[in-house]
Amino acid sequence: MTQDELKQAVAKAAFAYIEPRLEKDTVLGIGTGSTANLFIDCLAPVSGRISATVASSESSADRLRSHGIPVYDLNTVDQVDFYIDGADESNHALQLIKGGGAALTREKIVTAVAGEFICIADESKLVHTLGDFPLPVEVIPMARSHVARELVKLGGSPVYREGVVTDNGNVILDVFNFPIPQPLATEAAINGITGVVTNGLFALKPADVLLLGTADGVKTLFAQ
Ligand code: A5P
Repeated sequence: MTQDELKQAVAKAAFAYIEPRLEKDTVLGIGTGSTANLFIDCLAPVSGRISATVASSESSADRLRSHGIPVYDLNTVDQVDFYIDGADESNHALQLIKGGGAALTREKIVTAVAGEFICIADESKLVHTLGDFPLPVEVIPMARSHVARELVKLGGSPVYREGVVTDNGNVILDVFNFPIPQPLATEAAINGITGVVTNGLFALKPADVLLLGTADGVKTLFAQ
């Protein structure tokens, strides 16, 4: 199977996972990226049953609306029942690197609110140690050079993602050559640098379940 076919399979599996639990007042949190887009498209045929969503990016909100699915500001809902989103990497504790699509801050905010975070990914994303994928860090623009110097002190090689402005008006540094054997400590250390909005490690609040697309079918993984 191609990577796209695996992504399609996990998108369908995520819909099958939540569908029996959809209630009238269920609020779905919707992530960002190619896998999340496929999940959004799975919702289109049942759009009338989806009473509320919140989205982690303007692009996902636009895609939801194009299917006639209502999108709300996070501040106007009382709860987010499920958050469904992709990842750039996951380890076996379901700690993630996210932010390849530059939506990491809003993704982390919706994750913080969500009752259950369902991560959907193809098998290429599952790794032993996080960090082959460069770690995205969202930074207030005037702090870019300062934060880059501090990231070098932590052992990484930050690269400014040129031409990208986040939905929040900030910039992204991608940290290369940065293996992350202790994600909890690294997430906290980077978030402690003045000028950092947040970083793409989802370790303090990892995924609750990972639906992983493999050549043998979709596997349901829980944190080990
Ligand atoms: C968006 O900022 C990211 O966190 C995505 O969830 C991540 O990059 C996965 O994207 P794909 O589903 O396109 O691989």
